[in-house]
Amino acid sequence: MIFDTHAHYDDEAFDGDREELLSSLRENGIEAAVNVGASMESTERTLELIRRWPCLYGAVGVHPNETGELNEEKLERLKAASREDKVVAVGEIGLDYYWDQPEREIQKKWFLRQLELAREVKLPVIIHSRDAAKDTLDLMKAARAEEIGGVIHCFSYGTDMAREYLNMGFFIGIGGVLTFQNGKKLKEVAAFAPMDRIVLETDCPYLSPVPNRGKRNSSLNLPYVAAALAQIKGISEEEAAEITNRNARRLYRLREQ
Ligand code: NI
Repeated sequence: MIFDTHAHYDDEAFDGDREELLSSLRENGIEAAVNVGASMESTERTLELIRRWPCLYGAVGVHPNETGELNEEKLERLKAASREDKVVAVGEIGLDYYWDQPEREIQKKWFLRQLELAREVKLPVIIHSRDAAKDTLDLMKAARAEEIGGVIHCFSYGTDMAREYLNMGFFIGIGGVLTFQNGKKLKEVAAFAPMDRIVLETDCPYLSPVPNRGKRNSSLNLPYVAAALAQIKGISEEEAAEITNRNARRLYRLREQ
């Protein structure tokens, strides 16, 4: 059974068939998924979803490009949310200089504050880092993130950066990009990273793997990513699914099923 470590089922892209889709996950080999907050609003929707669906866990946090909305009061609300049942991580948090807003100092401030929050409530973090490799690593080192732990989601850097995060004890999140023709850099990272430090993710509704590239993504597409990983690692698809499932449970500190 596959574990999807990063999904956004609160997204409006699922408004038409969310019930049907979520109730079909297990019969399609998807054991569980973590619904990841990206704003205050999506954090609240995440809490609603995980109360309702046994197969969903949640992460609470504000994505770097949404940090303009944060203030002390909202950070307190995130802290309370992080203590709810089935909340397994703080995220997604980080830096995004591709969209580059709000200004970098604001992104950095709230990245650090949310790292501190994770340390305080003793949860791992889900890191979003795009076109911000050096600043992300510098801030995480300054915050001693190796003591917090977590995953670098949708890993988009090269093997040198992967080595840094692996040395800090982090997991590498791998999704649909692994199946892309232009996904060479990620294939190198997948080959480089030890099998016990890789987790599968969709980031759905985004980043659908080949052969469904460009369409709405869901956890149901993860077998394509597991197959691509299996090929790179020279193992069976079933092994790739089982090992990454165990890794996901270690990452989110859940009991093995
Ligand atoms: Ni995401």
